[in-house]
Amino acid sequence: MESPKPTRQITSVGTVELYNRWAKVYDTDGNILQTTDDLCLPPLLTHFLSLLPSRNAKITELGCGTGRNTAKLLLPLSSTNISSVQALDLSLSMLDIARQRCSVITTGSTAPILSTGFHVFDALSGAGPPVEACGAEGVLSTLVLEHLPLIVFFESVKKLLKKEGGYLLVTNMHEEMGRRGQAGFVDVESGEKVRGVSFVYSIEEVVEEGRKLGFEVVGEVGERAVAEEDLEVLGDRGRKWVGCKVWFGGVFRYVGGKGE
Ligand SMILES: C[S@@+](CC[C@H](N)C(=O)[O-])C[C@H]1O[C@@H](n2cnc3c(N)ncnc32)[C@H](O)[C@@H]1O
Repeated sequence: MESPKPTRQITSVGTVELYNRWAKVYDTDGNILQTTDDLCLPPLLTHFLSLLPSRNAKITELGCGTGRNTAKLLLPLSSTNISSVQALDLSLSMLDIARQRCSVITTGSTAPILSTGFHVFDALSGAGPPVEACGAEGVLSTLVLEHLPLIVFFESVKKLLKKEGGYLLVTNMHEEMGRRGQAGFVDVESGEKVRGVSFVYSIEEVVEEGRKLGFEVVGEVGERAVAEEDLEVLGDRGRKWVGCKVWFGGVFRYVGGKGE
């Protein structure tokens, strides 16, 4: 008879605690959604950057985490038209890692970025974002939306963008994946599975709520299912997701109107 699988204790915590604890292993624990985001982001990022002004563009990142994608903005090839990158996150532990990761890139870099900033900011607090982060031509937000009510997410992006125009690049966990699980990790010290608060959104819901708040899709919103061949990069943790859509992402333009 097969011995039963050991059960893992599941602990639900608030989002700040989740990411303060996850920070230690966020970049190394083989989470398949981050790897899928790495695979799918490049064409979307190129498109987003091409829509921004050709000089002196300011980008604010909402929920930068450990700077996985902030770092991509700072690379000389991406940053030809960027003069400022401001990164915001709820979790000080995630933000500390982002700051360190980015300083390695900016120190001695030939990229023309003039300023970078890392700020603690909770989109749910109702408080205004730091002034340095406002007035951006572009907002980047990857894998953050699932933690916020849609209205809070889009209203926060509006506060960060210049009043007229401006672009949002957003990626998120796909609803097919969200229905089977939520953001979390295994704490190697305690052995428990720690998870936080997540909302499951369909692409249609996101597009519709965005539209009501003055955002229109530029091009189309892409989605990605895990394929057998992805397992080479995703590793064994990807196996149970083969055939399941796990990611979506797209670019929105803020056109104003309702909700202003
Ligand atoms: C899954 S991580 C994604 C991090 C990074 N953008 C990436 O793609 O790797 C979600 C991030 O959103 C941040 N976050 C969650 N809720 C937030 C809120 N209310 N305000 C600001 N940041 C928040 C978390 O602290 C965490 O760093």
